[in-house]
Amino acid sequence: MMQNVQEYIQSNKDRFLDELLDLLRIPSVSADPAFNDDVKKTAEQVAKSLKEAGADNVTIYPTAGHPIVYGEKLVGEGLPTVLVYGHYDVQPPDPLDLWDSPPFEPVIKKTELHPEGAIFARGSCDDKGQAFMHIKAFEAMNKAGKLACNIKFMIEGEEEVGSNNLEKFCRDNADMLACDVVLVSDTSIIANDVPSITVGLRGLSYVEVEVTGPNRDLHSGTYGGGVANPINILSKMIASLQDEDNHITIPGFYDDVEIVSESDRAKMNEAPFSVENYQKDLDIASIHGEKGYTTLERTSIRPTLDVNGMWGGYIGEGAKTVLPSKAYAKISMRLVPNQSSDKITALFQKHFESIAPESVKVKVRPHHGGEPVVTPTDSLEYKAAHLAMEKTFGKAPIPQRGGGSIPIVALFEEVFGVKTVLMGFGLDSDAIHSPNEHYGVFNYFKGIETIPYFYKYYAELKK
Ligand code: BES
Ligand code: MN
Ligand code: MN
Repeated sequence: MMQNVQEYIQSNKDRFLDELLDLLRIPSVSADPAFNDDVKKTAEQVAKSLKEAGADNVTIYPTAGHPIVYGEKLVGEGLPTVLVYGHYDVQPPDPLDLWDSPPFEPVIKKTELHPEGAIFARGSCDDKGQAFMHIKAFEAMNKAGKLACNIKFMIEGEEEVGSNNLEKFCRDNADMLACDVVLVSDTSIIANDVPSITVGLRGLSYVEVEVTGPNRDLHSGTYGGGVANPINILSKMIASLQDEDNHITIPGFYDDVEIVSESDRAKMNEAPFSVENYQKDLDIASIHGEKGYTTLERTSIRPTLDVNGMWGGYIGEGAKTVLPSKAYAKISMRLVPNQSSDKITALFQKHFESIAPESVKVKVRPHHGGEPVVTPTDSLEYKAAHLAMEKTFGKAPIPQRGGGSIPIVALFEEVFGVKTVLMGFGLDSDAIHSPNEHYGVFNYFKGIETIPYFYKYYAELKK
């Protein structure tokens, strides 16, 4: 049966690739209402592929935001049920001028890390390419053999804006979505010859701050020196949020941070990682981060605080002498177990307001958040993913905690009472969220090839 599945994949490769390219041509930018029609069109295309692959009850569920696509194939009451989660929305492609080819006109080009070629387009890796692998793997399993598990698909259009309407959908449809495990491909492997399984995600607190000085923009000569400049003040306030050891100074920030044991840390640091390559890839002369931790630890088991954007005053051509009235920043904090997004946001707000000098007014606006997760490595589902990757990569995958966030994953456990397997196939260097995002053709097909083995081993282990 597996032979038929793999043969089906082999003989349909060109079409599988073409269909992904078609999906990538629709600009499903969830953050910008100008793309709402395209987001809807993308949902329709996803639904169409699910139908063509043989899914039943394919439905586009409208939400207060972007629609959720659902489809299922229930093949046997005694068989385990896998819920596949993914997202068809993408990040805005800006800045456009830094793309070598237009973000929604996919092209395949070879790179150093992708000698077989990579698909350059927004969403190629995050997450249209990876979500589509599941639809194609399902098609292959369905058309070539018998499915080893019941499958349910839930592909949403709001992951990149915080999955605000998915929680309600999951709660309202808990019966329809009932499953034994959630399977997600929206993370990365260490390298194409170093497979890994993501066993943790960081949570997120995201805030926007506004600092107001004088009630209007002023002449920076006439008033300069006598009035607080909100950009100067905001810069100082932000700088004070980390001390000389790059520890975050917000009182209580680390109170709930899980202390990872020395032995787990040692194991974590056995994962292949080269500081030299990291620096070279990013063109930086030195790494940076919290004192006492390695780069692998800083980007997985430790929380962070980063300014994502900062603006105010005059940023046009040439010089304008102005003392601005307002300054703004968007700040993200990545959280680790057992920090809580609401609690950290509240601590930030309280602290930020407390450090503002009397010469300015400060507003803190919370955005979306998400809770951190850790997934077990001793579960049947982890074992199935491990065996599947070992089979197709010819090498045992390494468990590794990821630094990114998928806000809805923590909720799966709460609402469905099940664990999630994070079996992603991207590379950290695939430039997700950045110009020239790409996804290896090797990775795309490796994913399609590996997924059916997950179902096979999971069904066998569950017996
Ligand atoms: N797929 C990413 C998350 C990710 C990437 C996890 C690589 C692990 C490795 C996801 O689409 C994403 O970008 N999430 C956002 C969440 C936010 C918009 C609420 C993130 O992490 O910034
Ligand atoms: Mn993603
Ligand atoms: Mn993303």
